Amino acid sequence: MGTSQVSYCKKGVDRKTLNDRILLSSDVAFCYDSGNNRETIDMDYGITRERALKLLQQHLTNNNMIKHCIASEAVMRKLAGHFGEDVDLWGLAGLLHDLDAEATADDLTQHTHQTVAILEEEGVCAEIIDAIRMHNEAAHTEKRAQRFHHALAAGETITGLITATALVYPDKKLASVKPKSVRKRIKEKAFAAGANRDIIRECEWIGLPIADFCDLCLSAMQEIADDLGL
Ligand SMILES: [Fe+2]
Repeated sequence: MGTSQVSYCKKGVDRKTLNDRILLSSDVAFCYDSGNNRETIDMDYGITRERALKLLQQHLTNNNMIKHCIASEAVMRKLAGHFGEDVDLWGLAGLLHDLDAEATADDLTQHTHQTVAILEEEGVCAEIIDAIRMHNEAAHTEKRAQRFHHALAAGETITGLITATALVYPDKKLASVKPKSVRKRIKEKAFAAGANRDIIRECEWIGLPIADFCDLCLSAMQEIADDLGL
């Protein structure tokens, strides 16, 4: 993360969400939860991956939705590596982007509003919150313009298409999926129609050809196939 990044997690601040006091050393914060278990907070991002996973469990009940978030994290980490960006920053955005997906399922115009509120309360850094807010343009009037924002929108969208591609194989395994299969499926509008092709193609707006994007995202998901149960 660049030095200009502002973190909401400041020295001596109480974290209302956990109702516990943060004890700080130089650049590491510790929260004590109600069970008196110590949790380290990453000061750069305002949240650890462990805490992010707890939030997922707290706000999402559908296991497939949680797997979608984990797949999005893997894809974002892969894309960040490709672009020389902050791998942990991009990964956390992927992991947390759909926290309110179930709560707002009936109204896409509300999707991300609750997530933003939850993450602000947590003290998550502004860069992650911004990317998450921008991944759903239906919830506001702004348009994506940053590489991070396009990557999250395109990356989280293609996870559904890659999962659907794996599920049509007899063994339903990501290991069976060839890169060319994903590239082919992108062109079949009726296949996994919920995966918006226009959003997937935003990868090209940030200089990543669709074929290369497919290959990177497939390999990212294949690397965590066991976690995804695919
Ligand atoms: Fe998503």
